[in-house]
Amino acid sequence: MTRATFLFSIAAAGLITASCAVTAEQTIPDKELGLVKGSVFETPAPPAYEYTKDMPGSTKPLPRSYYTAPPQIPHNIDAFVPITAKNNACLGCHDNPAQWGKPRQKGMPPPIPESHYVDPAYGHPEAGLKGKKQKTLSNARYNCVQCHAPQANAAPLVQNTFKPAK
Ligand code: HEC
Ligand code: HEC
Repeated sequence: MTRATFLFSIAAAGLITASCAVTAEQTIPDKELGLVKGSVFETPAPPAYEYTKDMPGSTKPLPRSYYTAPPQIPHNIDAFVPITAKNNACLGCHDNPAQWGKPRQKGMPPPIPESHYVDPAYGHPEAGLKGKKQKTLSNARYNCVQCHAPQANAAPLVQNTFKPAK
């Protein structure tokens, strides 16, 4: 046995003794094993939550999580979904390019922005795919709720310190 391996075996033996001592003393109660507040032997029912009942015209913009995040829908959308190929109720209020560049009016729908009227929606100029501005909404943006989501009063199950970007 070299000096190095001898020293190593002493250290390893010490570690094993130390870890035995820890496991012998510490037991984790079954209520603290998971993220769920309760015993792992229970089947907890998640708390009930509801989407906002506030109708368009009565809500305030919600904070955006980060720069370029699609804004969350602050109003109720029960009457406007599902969005189908023939019927998109969102357009009736939001498809209004005449409002571009004008100040926002309280209680009035903000217009769908210019970025949604470019085809292809996500052009890659380096690949010769440069988006062209067009008069009508890009089909790639037709399904609004793919990116914009209404919000429910569901409290986070695990507290966190996330703050939306300014
Ligand atoms: C009856 C008109 C109306 C309809 C239909 C409607 N909205 Fe709105 N929407 C508004 C108004 C008005 C606001 C501004 C907030 C307010 O006054 O309540 C708004 C706000 C929003 C915002 C927030 C924008 C921001 O900058 O924060 C989003 C996103 C949005 N609506 C998406 C949708 C989507 C998606 C649909 C279809 C599922 C839809 N809306 C249907 C009127 C409408
Ligand atoms: C592929 C994702 C995507 C789809 C689909 C989409 N949006 Fe957006 N939307 C965004 C993003 C990202 C922004 C914020 C950045 C921007 O303005 O382009 C935005 C911004 C908006 C705004 C805010 C405008 C403002 O002045 O603050 C409105 C209103 C809106 N969208 C409505 C709609 C409606 C209505 C539809 C369906 C016809 C739709 N969007 C479809 C991603 C999307």
